[in-house]
Amino acid sequence: MGLHLGDTAPDFTAESTDGTINLHEYLGDSWGILFSHPADFTPVCTTELGRVAALKPEFDKRNVKVLGLSVDPLDDHQTWSTDIAETQGTALNFPLIADPDRTVADLYDMVPPAAENNLTVRSVFVIGPDKAIKLMITYPASTGRNFDEILRVIDSLQLTANYQVATPVDWVDGQDVIIVPAVTDEEAVEKFPKGFTPVKPYLRITPQPNR
Ligand code: BEZ
Repeated sequence: MGLHLGDTAPDFTAESTDGTINLHEYLGDSWGILFSHPADFTPVCTTELGRVAALKPEFDKRNVKVLGLSVDPLDDHQTWSTDIAETQGTALNFPLIADPDRTVADLYDMVPPAAENNLTVRSVFVIGPDKAIKLMITYPASTGRNFDEILRVIDSLQLTANYQVATPVDWVDGQDVIIVPAVTDEEAVEKFPKGFTPVKPYLRITPQPNR
């Protein structure tokens, strides 16, 4: 059976470039992102890992622990990491899991059953402090991910975890948000002291409450 949003992220213990890691212990009370790479020594993955390393301060700012994975052995990861530092200008600064027997990849359905090879797709899982899966995105191997979009979704997830709001199309941190329909107008007056605009009874816009 596949994973769904809200499921507990399957726990595992695996070798990584930073030593043995147990997922749930590694995450502790933090948010987490677990993302897979089809294989080591591949061009798109090399650019992605460099980009995520450069964005590490942005993940840290949001209290998100980063964890990469590919189904190659640890010594390949270690050799490849010198290529990443050399070509992308930023050395790997988060653990990369070595999953040569596909234990983790299978737990997270990262290798499609119809795949003709052992390669994972580009999976992204965002995991909340409660260890529940908050986001799953699957990209094909040929398309490098946009990690600014992943950060944007994390901003939305962290905001909506604390306030009864949802974020509209193309929202970015700092912009107006939508009051969820479960909140009555009377409650909205109390909960959103900056006020709100009732565009329609079901579409009420308010300034971002934590700004
Ligand atoms: C890459 O990371 O460049 C890649 C990996 C597998 C298939 C296609 C591209």
